[in-house]
Amino acid sequence: MSEMLSGGTVKKKLRVGMIGYKFMGKAHSHAYRDLPFYFDTKVEPVMQAIAGRNQEGVQAAAEKMGWASYETDWRRLIERDDIDLIDIVTPNNTHAEIVIAAANAGKHILCEKPLAMNVEEAGRMLEAVNKAGVVHMICHNYRFAPAVRYAKQLIDSGKLGHIYHFRARYLQDWIMDPNFPLVWRMRKDVCGSGTHGDLMAHSIDLARYLVGEISEVAGMMDTFIKKRPLGEMSGGLNAEIHGDQMGDVDVDDAVAFLGRFDNGAFGVFEATRFGKGNRNTNQFEINGSKGSVRWDMQSMNELELYLEDDEQGNQGFRTITCTEGIHPYAGAYWPAGHIIGYEHTFINLLHELTNGIAENRSPSPNFEDGYRNQLVLEAVETSSVNKSWVKIPTTTILTP
Ligand SMILES: NC(=O)c1ccc[n+]([C@@H]2O[C@H](COP(=O)([O-])OP(=O)(O)OC[C@H]3O[C@@H](n4cnc5c(N)ncnc54)[C@H](O)[C@@H]3O)[C@@H](O)[C@H]2O)c1
Repeated sequence: MSEMLSGGTVKKKLRVGMIGYKFMGKAHSHAYRDLPFYFDTKVEPVMQAIAGRNQEGVQAAAEKMGWASYETDWRRLIERDDIDLIDIVTPNNTHAEIVIAAANAGKHILCEKPLAMNVEEAGRMLEAVNKAGVVHMICHNYRFAPAVRYAKQLIDSGKLGHIYHFRARYLQDWIMDPNFPLVWRMRKDVCGSGTHGDLMAHSIDLARYLVGEISEVAGMMDTFIKKRPLGEMSGGLNAEIHGDQMGDVDVDDAVAFLGRFDNGAFGVFEATRFGKGNRNTNQFEINGSKGSVRWDMQSMNELELYLEDDEQGNQGFRTITCTEGIHPYAGAYWPAGHIIGYEHTFINLLHELTNGIAENRSPSPNFEDGYRNQLVLEAVETSSVNKSWVKIPTTTILTP
């Protein structure tokens, strides 16, 4: 990191190189731009360069999103000595190779979820960052909604008592049309798994964050539409058909599993891309001995809270709008009641990452979390094939 004068104070610059530039590229780029506007960061992010394979596309993206330069080969970006942090927003089959190359080059790393294609890859990635001593994070952004953060504070303070239940549903419906093309998100060789690694990985992260480690699982997965026209993602969750050929879908459309947590709590998890009418229904409910919380991404500023200690007659779920200064991150934005949105979860995550880099520590969720998430993902897949309960390994051999 170089030192430069900024507004009369010396702040270290964190020069970012991002690989990929579509859906998550847009979310991350926006977050780098807005981060210093809302937070007094310990280091100042500089949008130094992006990488993509198509010269015209990457140049246009760099100009539109505010990156100072671009490369047409991600390896060249990693070789550059004017880059401190590599941010990976490419499909899952590219994560391991890029992470290991970036770690070996001494770069800090932010990687999109799921961390890898499988546990073996995730293990090698964790080993590489540990060995290199670089700062690493995985982009499970939903942890960074103020209402989710506040739920965590309530649980940790004992307000909900002993936790008995975690229930999660992550429902989308964007591939229900049989003519929606077979994009990379439905090809096992590119994404590892379908709805499971895409949506369920987020629910597993929320479960681990809020309740703790999962010890065993019993799952089921299926593919409802097995052949689709070939095509490519065109930004967001949109896609275009290319040509008139059909291909086989070899990943899950829907997945569900039961899980038991280390603390004895029951977990019930469901994720699908066939939940008609549900565009991005990402919900959880947690029941403890003294209270419960419920959260829904589509009303992400709100937390529903039930507390047994409330006066009899007045008991019931109340809806808290988590925009008061006392709610995590909320004070960085607007006066109470002036809500924030999806993009702010990424800004909050980058706030933690930049603090971590300034203090040379890897904030949660980091690659250890990504690895543990992958253990659960893989156990659910094994269970679905074997039709039996599968235990999640607890030991780790991944010391540098
Ligand atoms: N945190 C979240 O909520 C969230 C949401 C969506 C996607 N994701 C994750 O983000 C990652 C990217 O997903 P997306 O939705 O942005 O995908 P996308 O299809 O919108 O964009 C992928 C980008 O990667 C580029 N790319 C593909 N292969 C490449 C290669 N070999 N070298 C260089 N660039 C390459 C594409 O050109 C494109 O710019 C995935 O791992 C996905 O699971 C996370």
